[in-house]
Order: sequence, then structure tokens, then C-alpha cells
Amino acid sequence: MEIIIRKNADAAADLVAKITVKAICQKPNLTLGLATGRTMEIVYDKIVEMYKAGKVNFSKCSSFNLDEYVGLAPEDENSYRSYMNKFLFDRVNIDKKKTNVPLGMAKDLQAECMRYEKSIASSGGIDFQLLGIGTSGHIGFNEPMSSLNSLTSVKALTKATIEQNSPLFPKPEMMPRRAITMGVKTILNSKKSVLLATGDSKADIIAKAVEGPLCAAVTASALQMHEHCIVVLDEAAAKNLKMRDYYDWVFNSEPEWEEYR
Ligand code: GLP
Repeated sequence: MEIIIRKNADAAADLVAKITVKAICQKPNLTLGLATGRTMEIVYDKIVEMYKAGKVNFSKCSSFNLDEYVGLAPEDENSYRSYMNKFLFDRVNIDKKKTNVPLGMAKDLQAECMRYEKSIASSGGIDFQLLGIGTSGHIGFNEPMSSLNSLTSVKALTKATIEQNSPLFPKPEMMPRRAITMGVKTILNSKKSVLLATGDSKADIIAKAVEGPLCAAVTASALQMHEHCIVVLDEAAAKNLKMRDYYDWVFNSEPEWEEYR
């Protein structure tokens, strides 16, 4: 894991947007793994700005989203498909036919999970995975005690996640209690992953995920096993990290990061 700490949420999102755009420029037919959540909104805004400035072309990209709520149709305004249309797909030149979000309305949810996993595999796998983190420590919707070897599956959401996400629904009780999510193993199979966390509310869980033991109680800790994972934080989310000086020193001395300093 490489840990990069930026002075505020805007600077952290800016770095993630630039890393993403660079990955697309290096491989125009990139398979993107995409995340939702409030933290990502500003990243997508910044990517769209770069698109409008002619710095990136999505025409050859394809994408797979991490997750979708069970019971929400794609056209439901609270679905993650709607979120993606609003924050990214409707604003850039990605071919919507090449964008994938699990179908939360599928009659046979197990079959949908298998179809999604196979579809990722037959696309050649995810090249570049964007990630947020829930206060429960989830990546995607892999709640505590999810198998660290899991593929796409249906997960029951924890109280912490319901508290975190239900304010985003018109009425809190409208939030579904289950979701389809890429598994921890699906995420670990991506070639490169970038996790963004900002704000005080993420400080405790980031310290556990980054510097704590690898354990199913904090599924984000499995990223310690990812072959190339970058964790981008703002000062607030980084405040409980113990090896801060080391992370800063690496960022300030590695040639790879020179263009972003
Ligand atoms: C949802 C998504 C997660 C995401 C999390 C972060 O729960 N399923 O993939 O990491 O939101 O949410 P926020 O950015 O709003 O804190």
C-alpha cells in the first residue's frame, strides 16, 4: 500500500482524478472499476472538468461498478446506476453499453452475481479500481465478516452502513437493507486500486484498515494484500495514522509522484 496525504478533501480528490485520467490516457481501452458515495462526487466533477478540457477520452473505456442496492431498478433515482449517470456517464463520452452496474432488480440474485463476476472476467478483468470506504470498514458493500475470498454476492447491510447512507434517500426507511457487491477477492483481482477517504468520520476506520491487522472485521484491510493499492487521504482522515512521516517521505522522494507534488 502507498499512503498519500493531501491537505484537504479537494486536493485529495484532485489527485485521485488525475491518477484516473492518466491511467485512461496510458490505456485508452481501460476497464474501470467505479465507486459511488459522497466522497466520489467531487472526483467525478474533476474528471468531467478534465474531459471538457480535452484531456481524456472515454470512447474506448468500459466500466464495472462495485455495487447496487437490491430492489432498486436502474431508473430509480436512488440507484447507483442513476448516481453514475448523473455524476459521470451522462457527462462524458463513455459508451453506456460498455458500462456495467449489477442489476438490483434481478429475479434470481445468485444468478445475477455469477453473471456479473463472469462478465468482469470475460472483459479481461478490472485494470483500475476506484474505492471509497464505509464507516463499517466496507469496500463495495463487503460488510464486516465478509469472506476475504468472496466473489460478487448479496450482502446484508450493517446498522453503521444504514446510518451512513440512509440520509441520502428521500425518506431514510426507503434505503434497501441488502445489496449486490463485487466480492473482496473480485476487488483484490483488479490490477491497480485507488482508495479515497476524506473527513474526520473516516479517521478511525482508515487507521484500522491501513495499519491494523488484516481481518474480515474490517474488509478494507484486505487491500494490504492488493498488489498495487494507493490510499489517498486528507489530513482529517489521516489523523490517527502512526507512520505519517514515512508516508510523506515516500511521496516527497519517489520520482513516480514528482508530477503530483
Ligand atoms: C457506499 C458504497 C461504498 C462507498 C461508501 C462511501 O456505501 N457502497 O462503495 O465506499 O458508500 O460512502 P461516502 O463516500 O458517502 O462516505
